[in-house]
Amino acid sequence: MPKKPFIGKDRAVELAETYPTPFYLYDEAGIRRTARAVNEAFAWNPGFCEYFAVKANPNPSLISLLLEEGCGLDCSSATELMLARALGVRGERIMFSSNDTPAADFRLARELGAIVNFDDITHIPFFEREAGPVPETVCCRFNPGGLFRLSNGIMDNPGDAKYGMTAEQLERALPMLADAGARTFGLHAFLASNTLTDEYYPALARILFRLAADLSERTGVRISFIDLSGGVGIPYRPGERPCDIRAIGEGVRRAFEEILVPAGLGDTALCAELGRFMLGPHGVLITRAIHEKHTYKDYIGVDACAADLIRPAMYGAYHHITVLGQAGGPDKSADAPAGVFDVVGGLCENNDKFAVDRELPAVEPGDLLVIHDAGAHAHAMGFNYNGRLRPAEVLLREDGGTELIRRAETPADYFATLDATPLGRSVLASLAEPLA
Ligand SMILES: Cc1ncc(COP(=O)(O)O)c(C=O)c1O
Repeated sequence: MPKKPFIGKDRAVELAETYPTPFYLYDEAGIRRTARAVNEAFAWNPGFCEYFAVKANPNPSLISLLLEEGCGLDCSSATELMLARALGVRGERIMFSSNDTPAADFRLARELGAIVNFDDITHIPFFEREAGPVPETVCCRFNPGGLFRLSNGIMDNPGDAKYGMTAEQLERALPMLADAGARTFGLHAFLASNTLTDEYYPALARILFRLAADLSERTGVRISFIDLSGGVGIPYRPGERPCDIRAIGEGVRRAFEEILVPAGLGDTALCAELGRFMLGPHGVLITRAIHEKHTYKDYIGVDACAADLIRPAMYGAYHHITVLGQAGGPDKSADAPAGVFDVVGGLCENNDKFAVDRELPAVEPGDLLVIHDAGAHAHAMGFNYNGRLRPAEVLLREDGGTELIRRAETPADYFATLDATPLGRSVLASLAEPLA
């Protein structure tokens, strides 16, 4: 099945007249649809809450849509907590899932009354010393070690991951937290990223449910919630099968009935911290071809670069590309491939390539291209190397209108932190002067 962008050529051409390329575009209808599907898939669990992983996309306008759909927020740093506070989210609607956590971040989490998900047993005395008494509701992150396998092979290598505690550490951490005043306890684990199988959450749930039953019995500390974290993936490549969230919810329900209910833990609440699954497919990066170059390979140079979307350069990640065309020209989105191209950005790094040896229709300078599945872990990972400025974000509303939800960075933003020195301030001042 070819991947079709949620925006057509004519509308994209119109938008590119208002919003200079490159820019991110998000689809409100898709975001709401996915949030509802997740909530429906777990509606059998009365305590269920999806804590949207803010790190995946910290744009307040997008987060507001998810809050309206009943989500909480999973924050991993002080600034993400500040954003939650600014959006009126407090208390147990915030899951603070961090690691190697600075004292100031713990302090803010405590002030906001967030659920604190402890990544390590040593963080408990650290928290008490630096932030005060532990919160009433706490969670502990588990790392089972070894390799994590599902029926279709090795999924990831938790034994090599810096996150979480061993089972033995959890057995000590829970009573330690109870002695410190915590009253409600949860367990959390994140064992594989971008999984494209409906088996992942049910398999993870089985591990955590058994652990919860075991630890509740061994320590006398009752586990009241299980946080399945993130990791449910999206089909970046054409032909990949999307996860069926309904089947995933049903698989988790079966594990719940088999393990938690007989253990007397049938009132356990479930949580998730999905990021990619919530927003990934509902954002695209719209960029324009500005050059074509033919040397030992054929290149299309676009006006976006890896500083706008680093996943291909960083992970070799596949992002599908649809060539739309340009004003007054034909719609190329359904055209057959005309050649094999590298689609590149302008960074002085040879891995600044959105696609390598990709079959594409004929692309001419001026054509608009859509880079798919850029709604999560995309703009958020942007950076300023080579003095590149982060692009704007635009929301396509359900009624078809659009809203600029983050402006593009300007040179003044780029230079702003130089204001620490007189020379830096003069650099800033010179920006305002006309060219001689
Ligand atoms: C603790 C935690 N929760 C949730 C997420 C979100 O994961 P995903 O976007 O794969 O769903 C991440 C991703 O890095 C994470 O580290």
